[in-house]
Amino acid sequence: MLDLEAIDQLRKVLQKLKFKVLTIFLIVVFGIVISSVKPAQTQEPVTLNLLMTAPDAEPWKNGIVKDFEVKNPGIRIKIIEGPNATDLLENMYTSAFILGDSPYDLINMDVIWTPKFAAAGWLLDLTDKITKDELAAFSQKDVEGRRYKGKLYAVPMRSDVGMLYYRKDLLKEAGFNPPESFDDLIKISEALKDKSKDRWGYVWQGKQYEGLAAMFVEVLEGFGGYWVNPETLEVGLDKPETLQAIEFLKNTIETEISPDGVTTYQEEETRRIFQNGNSVFLRNWPYVWPLATQESSPIDGKIAIKPMVHNKNGSSGACLGGWALGISKSTKHPEEAWKAIQYFTSEEAQRKFILEAGFVPSRRSLFTDPQIVAKYPHYPELLKVVDKAVLRPPIAQYAQASDILQRYLSAALTNRITPEAAMKNAASETRQLLGR
Ligand code: GLC
Repeated sequence: MLDLEAIDQLRKVLQKLKFKVLTIFLIVVFGIVISSVKPAQTQEPVTLNLLMTAPDAEPWKNGIVKDFEVKNPGIRIKIIEGPNATDLLENMYTSAFILGDSPYDLINMDVIWTPKFAAAGWLLDLTDKITKDELAAFSQKDVEGRRYKGKLYAVPMRSDVGMLYYRKDLLKEAGFNPPESFDDLIKISEALKDKSKDRWGYVWQGKQYEGLAAMFVEVLEGFGGYWVNPETLEVGLDKPETLQAIEFLKNTIETEISPDGVTTYQEEETRRIFQNGNSVFLRNWPYVWPLATQESSPIDGKIAIKPMVHNKNGSSGACLGGWALGISKSTKHPEEAWKAIQYFTSEEAQRKFILEAGFVPSRRSLFTDPQIVAKYPHYPELLKVVDKAVLRPPIAQYAQASDILQRYLSAALTNRITPEAAMKNAASETRQLLGR
């Protein structure tokens, strides 16, 4: 009897023990499962830093960055707003690279930076990441501007070309056709400028900065001149065509077609003057169109654009600008950065970006995309301008070459030196730079 009781008690103890062991086992298993799941759930998303000019940042933040983050919850894009001038932005990127371990993962690059950044070894080679067929969807010139020694270092995000804007209402009223030559531009400006109405003839970018070089290659092309031949490295700055181009610009100031202050203007100053109705003509990039044609703009419905004027020896020069995305060699997140590039340069993202900001697409299909054409009817024509656009010299020493031109050209435009002396010096310094 006693034995039976003991056995029964022992059974109960064992049962309790079994229950306890099972409970402990379950707790341990649960703990293991939780601990292996938890880090993945709470893992910090990867942040990609991207520096750009402040006006560019707005359309990025308004749409495509949010869309990308929704599609890629593990990746965050941090937009850092820099100064509104490509040279200053380039300096920021350059000093970051030189100091080592650049804080920027994605590089939003002006077309003119590619040779320098690639030659310095600051960018990842993207050649094998994208097929020939995928690249064929982009404008050839935009892609070429992102190659260095046969390798691809960035994917075009948007293109850019300089254009001539004009007040079609004023020209029509006075019986003028849109200008074709430099002489036409001067003649119409003379006739339509009006001091009493605070109206100038022509505004352009004359400040000593990169925009001056971009504007100048168009005038140079219009007179049949050239800056640096990228194949032979010949320098054309002391040729007669260059001096004619400078004469034309100086003349606009001397005849009061352009305000004196034009030699201190960047894109935005000239846009504001034109948009306020204070100039008949404007040289600028296509971003001006959506701003100048918004309902609140005093010149909405009154403007048109055309390729830049030229004389009989030259052709319409449209400077090729534009921005592309590359990846910093020092990034810790190359895979995520490439994912971001794929999305931001996709048709879907570009369409959205362009509808928002009026930039020029780098994907050819978008120039005739129904939604885009509905908003910007001139885009099919713009594709022809992009195809014929003039590149600033795609050389690794571009930043220095541009600096030389900017300094001497600015000195000539502000009468600190004669155009002849200015260009003689500029040509010789450039030849020295290029080792010729
Ligand atoms: C625009 C162009 C760029 C150019 C700059 C000059 O941003 O896209 O290529 O260098 O203007 O101001």
